[in-house]
Amino acid sequence: MNSLFNLSGKTAIVTGAGRGIGKSIALGLAESGANVVLSSRTQSELEEVANEIRKIGTESLVIPCDVTKPEDIQQVVDETKNRFGSIDILINNAGMTIKTPAEEYELDNWNRIVAVNLTGVFLFAQYAGREMIKQNRGRIINISSVGSTTALTGSVAYCASKGGVNMLTKVLAVEWAKYGVNVNGIAPSYIETPLVKTVSDAKEDFAGKVTERTPLGRMGHPNELAGAAVFLASDAASYITGETIFVDGGWTALGL
Ligand code: NAI
Repeated sequence: MNSLFNLSGKTAIVTGAGRGIGKSIALGLAESGANVVLSSRTQSELEEVANEIRKIGTESLVIPCDVTKPEDIQQVVDETKNRFGSIDILINNAGMTIKTPAEEYELDNWNRIVAVNLTGVFLFAQYAGREMIKQNRGRIINISSVGSTTALTGSVAYCASKGGVNMLTKVLAVEWAKYGVNVNGIAPSYIETPLVKTVSDAKEDFAGKVTERTPLGRMGHPNELAGAAVFLASDAASYITGETIFVDGGWTALGL
């Protein structure tokens, strides 16, 4: 392995790690040598991923957590520190969507999306960031979306929350640069995961439309997010902070 990308001896926390993009990133970090703390609401899914990581050969710890609950987040941070001694990498991945036309969007749904996708990302960054500041080093990677800069119909709360994530990334990067904490984002387009299946099931020929709209001519695979995450977590990205990398098959590059 190129030593620039070697994460041996580092400890990463991945939220929403039981499936989809979070799972792929967790496995990618482990393959680069990191010990990985897996956090999400569903323990059974997490245990399966933990077993896969142990087979790769690094350590893994499962800590269930709802990112809307500050006490859960504190527990993940405390248990990670107790077990591994430091928190080197945070992947703020947990997220959700509810699709409804804007004029019918219910306040409860709006609040739920913002609580998970934006407030949850901020709180996890804040709690883990406090430890990284004490250590004088750390990497925070927030999973955004192409919906942060392009309008996805029926997704007013989702897009607003992800736009917020991009700005959160920049502000934290600027405030915490002096503490050696780099904060960046990854913005995927449509990736084949359970989240996209819920959107796709509700809309006729959704996959066909996405494929046609994407310059690379297909949806992404969750594994295709791991490379950007390993890169941003590694020494190779030491001078990158406040940036959001779009992993989108050309989605945001397309004009006409
Ligand atoms: P998914 O639905 O397959 O997985 C989401 C994970 O987050 C699940 O493990 C779920 O349990 C967890 N989660 C949800 N709410 C939570 C909460 N309150 N507390 C703790 N964990 C919670 O979704 P997917 O597709 O893997 O998405 C991961 C991230 O990538 C999300 O932030 C999503 O917005 C983003 N994304 C996904 C895209 C896609 O096409 N799949 C496109 C752009 C962004």
